[in-house]
Amino acid sequence: MKTVLVLNGPNLNLLGSREPQVYGTTTLAEVEKLCASACASHGLALDFRQSNHEGVLVDWIQEAGKLLAAGSLAGVVLNAGALTHTSIALHDAIKGTGVTLVELHISNVHARESFRHHSYISPAAKAVLCGFGVQGYALAIAGLAGLAV
Ligand code: DQA
Repeated sequence: MKTVLVLNGPNLNLLGSREPQVYGTTTLAEVEKLCASACASHGLALDFRQSNHEGVLVDWIQEAGKLLAAGSLAGVVLNAGALTHTSIALHDAIKGTGVTLVELHISNVHARESFRHHSYISPAAKAVLCGFGVQGYALAIAGLAGLAV
């Protein structure tokens, strides 16, 4: 069984109470359950993580690269939070490992402040999904399931 790695960056641990008018009231623990059920329905295993630290996310993408080499990675779903708009290190990690990665945002970043319109992740990602709320996580997993052979 292949694994989907769902990685969440800074401040996503605050989901549920953080700006609910933008991100909704679903907690990260509930998002994990939603991802588990999406993975189960596609015959995939889930590895779900969150960190507020850029280097930790880089390490996890490198870990995903090892799973890829072992033939056991379906892909990565990455909500890098604000690091989306700043992190060349995450861009390089995705490129350097060659993992199939979906960039995900709960909100429609293009309908928000202009500093959210640029992403360092997008040029290295297979696909980009934003604006579907937390349901986007399930959609991203379905997309990876369709690609995984
Ligand atoms: C976000 C959008 C980012 O601009 C923001 O910094 C986040 C969350 C989203 O899921 O909509 O932390 O990635």
